[in-house]
Amino acid sequence: MAKSDKTAVRETFSSGLAVFFATLGSAVGLGNIWKFPYLTGEYGGGAFLFIYLLCILFVGIPIMIGEFYIGRKTRQNPVGAYKQLSPDSYWKINGFMGVIAAYLIMFFYSCVAGWVYFYFFKALIGDFSSITMATAKAEFGSVVIGPFAPLFWQFFVLTVVAAILIKGVEKGIERITKTLMPVLFLLIIICDIRALTLPGAGEGLNFLFHVDFSKLTSVAILTALGLAFFKLSLGMGTMLTYGSYFTKDNNLFGTASKVALSDTIVSMLAGIAIFPTVFSFGMEPSAGPGLLFMTIPLVFSQMPLGSILLVAFFFLTSIAATTAMISIVEVVTAYFVEERKMNRTKAVVINSLVIAVVGVLATLSADKDSLLGGMTFFGKGFFDWFDYLSSNVLLPVGGLLIALFIGHVTKKQDLKEELSNQGTLAIDFIFEAFYFIIRYVTPILLIIVFLNAIGIIKV
Ligand code: PHE
Repeated sequence: MAKSDKTAVRETFSSGLAVFFATLGSAVGLGNIWKFPYLTGEYGGGAFLFIYLLCILFVGIPIMIGEFYIGRKTRQNPVGAYKQLSPDSYWKINGFMGVIAAYLIMFFYSCVAGWVYFYFFKALIGDFSSITMATAKAEFGSVVIGPFAPLFWQFFVLTVVAAILIKGVEKGIERITKTLMPVLFLLIIICDIRALTLPGAGEGLNFLFHVDFSKLTSVAILTALGLAFFKLSLGMGTMLTYGSYFTKDNNLFGTASKVALSDTIVSMLAGIAIFPTVFSFGMEPSAGPGLLFMTIPLVFSQMPLGSILLVAFFFLTSIAATTAMISIVEVVTAYFVEERKMNRTKAVVINSLVIAVVGVLATLSADKDSLLGGMTFFGKGFFDWFDYLSSNVLLPVGGLLIALFIGHVTKKQDLKEELSNQGTLAIDFIFEAFYFIIRYVTPILLIIVFLNAIGIIKV
Protein backbone atom coordinates (compact mmCIF):
# COMPACT_ATOMS: atom_id res chain seq x y z
CA MET A 1 0.00 0.00 0.00
CA ALA A 2 1.81 3.06 -1.24
CA LYS A 3 1.45 6.00 1.08
CA SER A 4 2.96 9.41 0.76
CA ASP A 5 2.42 12.18 3.32
CA LYS A 6 -0.24 13.87 1.20
CA THR A 7 -2.18 10.65 0.80
CA ALA A 8 -1.65 9.28 4.29
CA VAL A 9 -5.38 8.79 4.83
CA ARG A 10 -5.77 6.77 1.68
CA GLU A 11 -5.92 3.06 1.55
CA THR A 12 -6.25 0.93 -1.54
CA PHE A 13 -9.05 -1.56 -2.07
CA SER A 14 -7.58 -5.00 -1.52
CA SER A 15 -8.31 -6.70 -4.85
CA GLY A 16 -9.97 -6.40 -8.22
CA LEU A 17 -13.09 -8.02 -6.81
CA ALA A 18 -13.18 -5.52 -3.96
CA VAL A 19 -12.82 -2.67 -6.42
CA PHE A 20 -15.72 -4.04 -8.43
CA PHE A 21 -18.07 -4.52 -5.50
CA ALA A 22 -17.24 -1.26 -3.78
CA THR A 23 -17.80 0.66 -7.01
CA LEU A 24 -20.98 -1.26 -7.71
CA GLY A 25 -22.00 -0.51 -4.12
CA SER A 26 -21.83 3.18 -4.99
CA ALA A 27 -23.70 2.79 -8.26
CA VAL A 28 -26.47 0.49 -7.07
CA GLY A 29 -28.81 2.28 -4.75
CA LEU A 30 -32.13 4.06 -4.62
CA GLY A 31 -31.44 5.10 -8.19
CA ASN A 32 -32.15 1.59 -9.45
CA ILE A 33 -34.93 0.53 -7.16
CA TRP A 34 -36.73 3.80 -6.55
CA LYS A 35 -35.80 6.41 -9.15
CA PHE A 36 -35.37 4.37 -12.31
CA PRO A 37 -38.83 2.74 -12.15
CA TYR A 38 -40.72 5.86 -11.20
CA LEU A 39 -39.05 8.07 -13.82
CA THR A 40 -39.53 5.41 -16.48
CA GLY A 41 -43.18 5.33 -15.42
CA GLU A 42 -43.56 9.09 -15.52
CA TYR A 43 -41.84 9.60 -18.84
CA GLY A 44 -43.61 6.94 -20.78
CA GLY A 45 -41.70 3.65 -20.54
CA GLY A 46 -39.77 2.14 -23.45
CA ALA A 47 -38.69 5.30 -25.26
CA PHE A 48 -37.30 6.75 -22.04
CA LEU A 49 -35.48 3.48 -21.36
CA PHE A 50 -33.99 3.54 -24.85
CA ILE A 51 -32.59 7.06 -24.43
CA TYR A 52 -31.34 6.14 -20.97
CA LEU A 53 -29.38 3.18 -22.39
CA LEU A 54 -27.81 5.39 -25.06
CA CYS A 55 -26.77 7.83 -22.32
CA ILE A 56 -25.13 5.02 -20.35
CA LEU A 57 -23.18 3.86 -23.40
CA PHE A 58 -22.02 7.12 -24.94
CA VAL A 59 -21.90 9.37 -21.92
CA GLY A 60 -21.88 7.31 -18.73
CA ILE A 61 -19.19 4.71 -19.40
CA PRO A 62 -16.70 7.14 -21.01
CA ILE A 63 -17.08 9.62 -18.15
CA MET A 64 -16.69 6.88 -15.59
CA ILE A 65 -13.41 5.86 -17.21
CA GLY A 66 -12.37 9.52 -17.22
CA GLU A 67 -13.09 9.86 -13.50
CA PHE A 68 -11.22 6.64 -12.71
CA TYR A 69 -8.26 8.01 -14.65
CA ILE A 70 -8.14 11.30 -12.75
CA GLY A 71 -8.58 9.59 -9.39
CA ARG A 72 -6.12 6.77 -9.79
CA LYS A 73 -3.47 8.91 -11.41
CA THR A 74 -3.51 11.55 -8.67
CA ARG A 75 -4.72 9.58 -5.64
CA GLN A 76 -6.49 12.69 -4.44
CA ASN A 77 -9.91 14.07 -3.58
CA PRO A 78 -11.64 15.84 -6.52
CA VAL A 79 -10.34 19.33 -5.70
CA GLY A 80 -6.79 18.14 -5.00
CA ALA A 81 -6.82 16.01 -8.14
CA TYR A 82 -7.49 18.94 -10.46
CA LYS A 83 -4.97 21.06 -8.57
CA GLN A 84 -2.35 18.42 -9.22
CA LEU A 85 -3.17 17.77 -12.87
CA SER A 86 -3.73 21.37 -13.84
CA PRO A 87 -2.09 23.67 -11.26
CA ASP A 88 -3.10 27.33 -11.13
CA SER A 89 -6.15 26.81 -13.29
CA TYR A 90 -9.88 27.04 -12.73
CA TRP A 91 -10.36 23.30 -13.15
CA LYS A 92 -10.50 22.81 -9.41
CA ILE A 93 -13.89 24.52 -9.51
CA ASN A 94 -15.23 21.32 -11.04
CA GLY A 95 -14.03 19.57 -7.90
CA PHE A 96 -15.89 22.09 -5.72
CA MET A 97 -19.04 21.65 -7.75
CA GLY A 98 -18.84 17.97 -6.94
CA VAL A 99 -18.74 18.73 -3.24
CA ILE A 100 -21.82 20.96 -3.59
CA ALA A 101 -23.63 18.29 -5.62
CA ALA A 102 -22.83 15.75 -2.91
CA TYR A 103 -24.62 17.90 -0.31
CA LEU A 104 -27.64 18.50 -2.53
CA ILE A 105 -28.03 14.80 -3.27
CA MET A 106 -27.67 13.85 0.38
CA PHE A 107 -30.41 16.28 1.45
CA PHE A 108 -33.10 14.33 -0.39
CA TYR A 109 -31.41 10.93 -0.63
CA SER A 110 -31.24 10.62 3.14
CA CYS A 111 -34.95 11.41 3.27
CA VAL A 112 -35.88 8.64 0.81
CA ALA A 113 -33.46 6.26 2.50
CA GLY A 114 -35.32 7.09 5.73
CA TRP A 115 -38.59 5.92 4.14
CA VAL A 116 -36.86 2.70 3.10
CA TYR A 117 -35.53 2.04 6.61
CA PHE A 118 -38.99 2.80 7.97
CA TYR A 119 -40.58 0.35 5.53
CA PHE A 120 -38.05 -2.24 6.60
CA PHE A 121 -39.06 -1.66 10.19
CA LYS A 122 -42.77 -1.81 9.35
CA ALA A 123 -42.27 -5.03 7.40
CA LEU A 124 -40.42 -6.46 10.37
CA ILE A 125 -43.29 -5.80 12.77
CA GLY A 126 -45.80 -7.21 10.29
CA ASP A 127 -47.50 -3.94 9.34
CA PHE A 128 -48.12 -5.02 5.77
CA SER A 129 -49.80 -8.35 6.44
CA SER A 130 -53.21 -7.27 5.15
CA ILE A 131 -52.21 -4.68 2.61
CA THR A 132 -54.48 -3.83 -0.32
CA MET A 133 -54.07 -1.41 -3.15
CA ALA A 134 -56.01 1.29 -1.34
CA THR A 135 -54.14 0.92 1.94
CA ALA A 136 -50.76 0.77 0.15
CA LYS A 137 -51.35 4.27 -1.14
CA ALA A 138 -52.62 5.64 2.14
CA GLU A 139 -49.74 4.00 4.02
CA PHE A 140 -47.16 5.66 1.83
CA GLY A 141 -48.91 9.01 2.12
CA SER A 142 -48.85 8.93 5.90
CA VAL A 143 -45.19 7.83 6.01
CA VAL A 144 -44.13 10.72 3.78
CA ILE A 145 -46.20 13.38 5.46
CA GLY A 146 -45.14 12.36 8.95
CA PRO A 147 -43.65 14.68 10.05
CA PHE A 148 -41.92 13.02 13.02
CA ALA A 149 -41.38 9.49 11.74
CA PRO A 150 -39.68 10.45 8.45
CA LEU A 151 -37.45 12.95 10.26
CA PHE A 152 -36.52 10.37 12.87
CA TRP A 153 -35.62 7.82 10.19
CA GLN A 154 -33.68 10.37 8.17
CA PHE A 155 -31.53 11.18 11.21
CA PHE A 156 -31.16 7.49 11.93
CA VAL A 157 -29.91 6.88 8.39
CA LEU A 158 -27.42 9.72 8.66
CA THR A 159 -26.14 8.36 11.95
CA VAL A 160 -25.56 4.93 10.41
CA VAL A 161 -23.71 6.45 7.46
CA ALA A 162 -21.60 8.62 9.73
CA ALA A 163 -20.74 5.72 12.04
CA ILE A 164 -19.51 3.59 9.14
CA LEU A 165 -17.56 6.46 7.61
CA ILE A 166 -15.84 7.31 10.87
CA LYS A 167 -14.66 3.74 11.21
CA GLY A 168 -13.06 3.95 7.78
CA VAL A 169 -14.84 2.73 4.74
CA GLU A 170 -12.83 0.10 2.99
CA LYS A 171 -12.94 -2.97 5.18
CA GLY A 172 -16.53 -2.64 6.34
CA ILE A 173 -17.90 -1.63 2.98
CA GLU A 174 -15.86 -4.14 1.06
CA ARG A 175 -17.22 -6.94 3.18
CA ILE A 176 -20.82 -5.71 3.28
CA THR A 177 -21.08 -5.10 -0.44
CA LYS A 178 -19.38 -8.35 -1.39
CA THR A 179 -21.85 -10.48 0.55
CA LEU A 180 -25.03 -8.52 0.17
CA MET A 181 -25.00 -7.39 -3.46
CA PRO A 182 -25.49 -10.96 -4.75
CA VAL A 183 -28.34 -11.50 -2.26
CA LEU A 184 -30.06 -8.31 -3.41
CA PHE A 185 -29.78 -9.59 -6.95
CA LEU A 186 -31.41 -12.87 -6.00
CA LEU A 187 -34.25 -11.17 -4.16
CA ILE A 188 -35.07 -8.92 -7.07
CA ILE A 189 -35.23 -12.00 -9.27
CA ILE A 190 -37.72 -13.58 -6.85
CA CYS A 191 -39.78 -10.38 -7.06
CA ASP A 192 -39.59 -10.61 -10.84
CA ILE A 193 -40.87 -14.16 -10.93
CA ARG A 194 -43.72 -13.23 -8.65
CA ALA A 195 -44.57 -10.09 -10.63
CA LEU A 196 -44.41 -11.90 -13.95
CA THR A 197 -46.89 -14.51 -12.80
CA LEU A 198 -49.51 -11.92 -11.83
CA PRO A 199 -52.52 -11.67 -14.13
CA GLY A 200 -52.01 -8.96 -16.73
CA ALA A 201 -48.22 -8.88 -16.30
CA GLY A 202 -47.70 -8.63 -20.05
CA GLU A 203 -49.08 -5.13 -20.13
CA GLY A 204 -46.36 -4.02 -17.69
CA LEU A 205 -43.63 -5.52 -19.84
CA ASN A 206 -45.09 -3.90 -22.87
CA PHE A 207 -45.03 -0.55 -21.11
CA LEU A 208 -41.38 -0.99 -20.16
CA PHE A 209 -40.07 -2.32 -23.45
CA HIS A 210 -42.31 -0.86 -26.14
CA VAL A 211 -40.50 2.10 -27.65
CA ASP A 212 -42.86 4.88 -28.65
CA PHE A 213 -40.87 7.97 -29.57
CA SER A 214 -43.94 10.15 -29.78
CA LYS A 215 -43.90 10.16 -25.97
CA LEU A 216 -40.42 11.71 -25.77
CA THR A 217 -40.15 15.32 -24.69
CA SER A 218 -37.03 17.39 -24.16
CA VAL A 219 -37.61 17.21 -20.42
CA ALA A 220 -37.69 13.41 -20.71
CA ILE A 221 -34.37 13.40 -22.55
CA LEU A 222 -32.69 15.64 -19.99
CA THR A 223 -34.15 13.48 -17.24
CA ALA A 224 -32.82 10.29 -18.84
CA LEU A 225 -29.40 11.90 -19.06
CA GLY A 226 -29.57 13.09 -15.47
CA LEU A 227 -30.62 9.63 -14.38
CA ALA A 228 -27.64 8.08 -16.15
CA PHE A 229 -25.32 10.37 -14.19
CA PHE A 230 -27.12 9.80 -10.92
CA LYS A 231 -27.25 6.06 -11.47
CA LEU A 232 -23.56 5.61 -12.19
CA SER A 233 -22.56 8.14 -9.49
CA LEU A 234 -20.95 10.39 -12.11
CA GLY A 235 -20.17 14.04 -12.60
CA MET A 236 -19.45 14.92 -8.98
CA GLY A 237 -16.22 13.14 -8.15
CA THR A 238 -17.54 9.98 -6.49
CA MET A 239 -16.01 7.69 -9.08
CA LEU A 240 -12.94 9.92 -9.08
CA THR A 241 -12.59 9.49 -5.32
CA TYR A 242 -13.17 5.73 -5.50
CA GLY A 243 -10.73 5.55 -8.43
CA SER A 244 -8.14 7.06 -6.12
CA TYR A 245 -8.45 3.90 -3.98
CA PHE A 246 -8.05 1.49 -6.93
CA THR A 247 -5.05 -0.77 -7.29
CA LYS A 248 -2.56 0.16 -10.00
CA ASP A 249 -3.12 -3.12 -11.86
CA ASN A 250 -6.87 -2.66 -12.16
CA ASN A 251 -8.20 -2.61 -15.70
CA LEU A 252 -10.20 0.62 -15.68
CA PHE A 253 -12.02 -0.14 -18.94
CA GLY A 254 -13.06 -3.52 -17.57
CA THR A 255 -14.23 -2.16 -14.22
CA ALA A 256 -16.25 0.64 -15.82
CA SER A 257 -18.01 -1.68 -18.26
CA LYS A 258 -18.72 -4.36 -15.67
CA VAL A 259 -20.09 -1.85 -13.17
CA ALA A 260 -22.26 -0.10 -15.77
CA LEU A 261 -23.61 -3.38 -17.10
CA SER A 262 -24.38 -4.87 -13.69
CA ASP A 263 -25.98 -1.64 -12.53
CA THR A 264 -28.19 -1.50 -15.61
CA ILE A 265 -29.23 -5.12 -15.09
CA VAL A 266 -30.29 -4.32 -11.52
CA SER A 267 -32.40 -1.39 -12.77
CA MET A 268 -34.07 -3.50 -15.43
CA LEU A 269 -34.83 -6.24 -12.91
CA ALA A 270 -36.38 -3.64 -10.62
CA GLY A 271 -38.49 -2.38 -13.52
CA ILE A 272 -39.57 -5.92 -14.35
CA ALA A 273 -40.66 -6.39 -10.73
CA ILE A 274 -42.59 -3.15 -10.56
CA PHE A 275 -44.42 -2.52 -13.86
CA PRO A 276 -46.29 -5.83 -14.15
CA THR A 277 -47.50 -5.23 -10.58
CA VAL A 278 -48.58 -1.70 -11.40
CA PHE A 279 -50.67 -2.88 -14.34
CA SER A 280 -51.95 -5.98 -12.63
CA PHE A 281 -53.31 -3.95 -9.73
CA GLY A 282 -54.58 -1.20 -11.99
CA MET A 283 -52.25 1.47 -10.59
CA GLU A 284 -50.87 4.44 -12.47
CA PRO A 285 -47.32 3.93 -13.81
CA SER A 286 -46.85 7.67 -13.43
CA ALA A 287 -47.63 7.61 -9.70
CA GLY A 288 -44.29 9.31 -8.98
CA PRO A 289 -41.84 8.81 -6.12
CA GLY A 290 -44.23 6.52 -4.21
CA LEU A 291 -44.24 3.85 -6.92
CA LEU A 292 -41.76 1.49 -5.23
CA PHE A 293 -43.36 1.85 -1.83
CA MET A 294 -46.85 1.17 -3.09
CA THR A 295 -46.05 -1.78 -5.32
CA ILE A 296 -43.48 -3.95 -3.54
CA PRO A 297 -45.61 -4.65 -0.43
CA LEU A 298 -48.38 -5.68 -2.84
CA VAL A 299 -46.09 -7.98 -4.83
CA PHE A 300 -45.35 -9.97 -1.74
CA SER A 301 -48.78 -9.88 -0.16
CA GLN A 302 -50.66 -13.17 -0.08
CA MET A 303 -47.61 -15.05 -1.22
CA PRO A 304 -46.05 -17.93 0.71
CA LEU A 305 -43.15 -16.54 2.77
CA GLY A 306 -44.18 -13.12 1.46
CA SER A 307 -43.69 -11.34 4.77
CA ILE A 308 -40.16 -12.67 5.17
CA LEU A 309 -39.29 -11.75 1.61
CA LEU A 310 -40.66 -8.26 2.17
CA VAL A 311 -38.44 -7.78 5.22
CA ALA A 312 -35.47 -9.06 3.24
CA PHE A 313 -36.27 -6.81 0.29
CA PHE A 314 -36.40 -3.61 2.30
CA PHE A 315 -33.38 -4.66 4.32
CA LEU A 316 -31.31 -5.06 1.20
CA THR A 317 -32.65 -1.86 -0.32
CA SER A 318 -31.55 -0.15 2.89
CA ILE A 319 -28.08 -1.61 2.44
CA ALA A 320 -27.94 -0.54 -1.20
CA ALA A 321 -28.98 2.99 -0.24
CA THR A 322 -26.45 3.06 2.59
CA THR A 323 -23.46 2.00 0.50
CA ALA A 324 -24.41 4.61 -2.10
CA MET A 325 -24.67 7.34 0.57
CA ILE A 326 -21.30 6.36 1.97
CA SER A 327 -19.75 7.03 -1.42
CA ILE A 328 -21.49 10.41 -1.61
CA VAL A 329 -20.41 11.60 1.82
CA GLU A 330 -16.92 10.21 1.19
CA VAL A 331 -16.43 12.89 -1.48
CA VAL A 332 -17.11 15.62 1.05
CA THR A 333 -15.06 13.87 3.73
CA ALA A 334 -12.03 13.37 1.50
CA TYR A 335 -12.19 17.04 0.54
CA PHE A 336 -12.29 18.28 4.14
CA VAL A 337 -9.63 15.87 5.33
CA GLU A 338 -7.15 16.53 2.55
CA GLU A 339 -7.77 20.10 1.49
CA ARG A 340 -8.88 21.55 4.81
CA LYS A 341 -6.67 19.28 6.93
CA MET A 342 -9.59 18.37 9.17
CA ASN A 343 -9.53 15.17 11.16
CA ARG A 344 -11.71 12.46 9.67
CA THR A 345 -14.13 12.08 12.56
CA LYS A 346 -14.66 15.81 12.82
CA ALA A 347 -15.21 16.10 9.06
CA VAL A 348 -17.81 13.32 9.11
CA VAL A 349 -19.66 14.66 12.16
CA ILE A 350 -19.82 18.27 10.98
CA ASN A 351 -20.94 17.37 7.49
CA SER A 352 -23.54 14.91 8.70
CA LEU A 353 -24.97 17.63 10.92
CA VAL A 354 -25.14 20.06 8.03
CA ILE A 355 -26.87 17.42 5.91
CA ALA A 356 -29.30 16.60 8.73
CA VAL A 357 -30.26 20.24 9.27
CA VAL A 358 -30.80 21.16 5.63
CA GLY A 359 -32.17 17.69 4.88
CA VAL A 360 -35.16 18.54 7.12
CA LEU A 361 -36.30 20.91 4.38
CA ALA A 362 -36.37 18.04 1.88
CA THR A 363 -38.30 15.75 4.19
CA LEU A 364 -40.86 18.40 5.06
CA SER A 365 -41.49 19.21 1.40
CA ALA A 366 -41.53 15.70 -0.09
CA ASP A 367 -45.28 15.74 -0.71
CA LYS A 368 -47.70 18.52 -1.50
CA ASP A 369 -49.48 17.74 1.78
CA SER A 370 -46.27 17.85 3.82
CA LEU A 371 -45.69 20.63 6.33
CA LEU A 372 -43.72 22.72 3.83
CA GLY A 373 -45.41 21.16 0.81
CA GLY A 374 -47.04 24.43 -0.16
CA MET A 375 -43.75 26.31 -0.26
CA THR A 376 -42.68 26.32 -3.88
CA PHE A 377 -40.26 28.38 -5.92
CA PHE A 378 -40.85 28.39 -9.68
CA GLY A 379 -43.17 25.44 -9.24
CA LYS A 380 -40.88 23.17 -7.21
CA GLY A 381 -40.46 22.63 -3.49
CA PHE A 382 -37.15 22.03 -1.68
CA PHE A 383 -37.15 18.27 -2.22
CA ASP A 384 -37.65 18.62 -5.97
CA TRP A 385 -35.15 21.45 -6.28
CA PHE A 386 -32.38 19.47 -4.54
CA ASP A 387 -33.06 16.57 -6.85
CA TYR A 388 -33.42 18.64 -10.02
CA LEU A 389 -30.38 20.86 -9.44
CA SER A 390 -28.11 17.93 -8.67
CA SER A 391 -29.28 15.33 -11.18
CA ASN A 392 -30.31 17.50 -14.09
CA VAL A 393 -27.87 20.38 -13.73
CA LEU A 394 -24.74 19.87 -11.62
CA LEU A 395 -23.99 16.25 -12.53
CA PRO A 396 -24.37 16.67 -16.31
CA VAL A 397 -22.43 19.97 -16.27
CA GLY A 398 -19.75 18.35 -14.11
CA GLY A 399 -19.71 15.44 -16.57
CA LEU A 400 -19.30 17.76 -19.55
CA LEU A 401 -16.35 19.42 -17.85
CA ILE A 402 -14.78 16.03 -17.13
CA ALA A 403 -15.20 15.00 -20.78
CA LEU A 404 -13.58 18.26 -21.92
CA PHE A 405 -10.78 17.86 -19.41
CA ILE A 406 -10.02 14.32 -20.52
CA GLY A 407 -10.55 14.85 -24.24
CA HIS A 408 -9.00 18.28 -24.69
CA VAL A 409 -6.77 19.17 -21.74
CA THR A 410 -5.14 15.89 -20.77
CA LYS A 411 -2.27 14.67 -22.97
CA LYS A 412 -3.33 11.65 -24.98
CA GLN A 413 -0.07 9.92 -24.11
CA ASP A 414 -0.60 10.34 -20.35
CA LEU A 415 -4.09 9.02 -20.66
CA LYS A 416 -3.00 5.97 -22.61
CA GLU A 417 -0.20 5.23 -20.21
CA GLU A 418 -2.47 5.22 -17.16
CA LEU A 419 -5.35 3.38 -18.82
CA SER A 420 -3.05 0.66 -20.16
CA ASN A 421 -1.41 0.33 -16.74
CA GLN A 422 1.91 1.56 -18.07
CA GLY A 423 1.65 -0.48 -21.25
CA THR A 424 0.89 -3.80 -19.58
CA LEU A 425 -2.62 -4.05 -21.06
CA ALA A 426 -3.18 -4.34 -24.79
CA ILE A 427 -5.87 -1.70 -25.24
CA ASP A 428 -5.01 -0.05 -28.56
CA PHE A 429 -8.35 -0.43 -30.28
CA ILE A 430 -10.58 0.19 -27.29
CA PHE A 431 -8.46 3.16 -26.27
CA GLU A 432 -8.84 4.84 -29.67
CA ALA A 433 -12.59 4.27 -29.60
CA PHE A 434 -12.83 5.65 -26.07
CA TYR A 435 -10.69 8.67 -26.93
CA PHE A 436 -12.80 9.53 -29.93
CA ILE A 437 -16.04 9.18 -27.96
CA ILE A 438 -14.99 11.25 -24.97
CA ARG A 439 -13.33 13.89 -27.13
CA TYR A 440 -16.22 14.41 -29.56
CA VAL A 441 -19.31 12.28 -29.06
CA THR A 442 -19.87 12.73 -25.31
CA PRO A 443 -19.46 16.53 -25.21
CA ILE A 444 -21.50 17.08 -28.37
CA LEU A 445 -24.34 14.92 -27.07
CA LEU A 446 -24.28 16.70 -23.74
CA ILE A 447 -24.35 20.12 -25.36
CA ILE A 448 -27.23 19.12 -27.63
CA VAL A 449 -29.24 17.85 -24.66
CA PHE A 450 -28.60 21.10 -22.73
CA LEU A 451 -29.53 23.33 -25.64
CA ASN A 452 -32.60 21.22 -26.23
CA ALA A 453 -33.59 21.37 -22.57
CA ILE A 454 -33.42 25.15 -22.43
CA GLY A 455 -35.32 25.40 -25.70
CA ILE A 456 -32.58 26.82 -27.93
CA ILE A 457 -32.75 23.90 -30.32
CA LYS A 458 -35.55 21.45 -30.95
CA VAL A 459 -34.74 17.77 -31.39
N1 PHE B 1 -25.70 5.88 -7.80
C1 PHE B 1 -26.48 6.03 -6.62
C2 PHE B 1 -27.85 5.42 -6.82
O1 PHE B 1 -28.24 5.07 -7.88
C3 PHE B 1 -26.61 7.47 -6.19
C4 PHE B 1 -25.36 8.26 -6.22
C5 PHE B 1 -25.32 9.43 -6.94
C6 PHE B 1 -24.24 7.83 -5.52
C7 PHE B 1 -24.15 10.18 -7.00
C8 PHE B 1 -23.06 8.58 -5.57
C9 PHE B 1 -23.03 9.74 -6.30
O2 PHE B 1 -28.61 5.31 -5.91
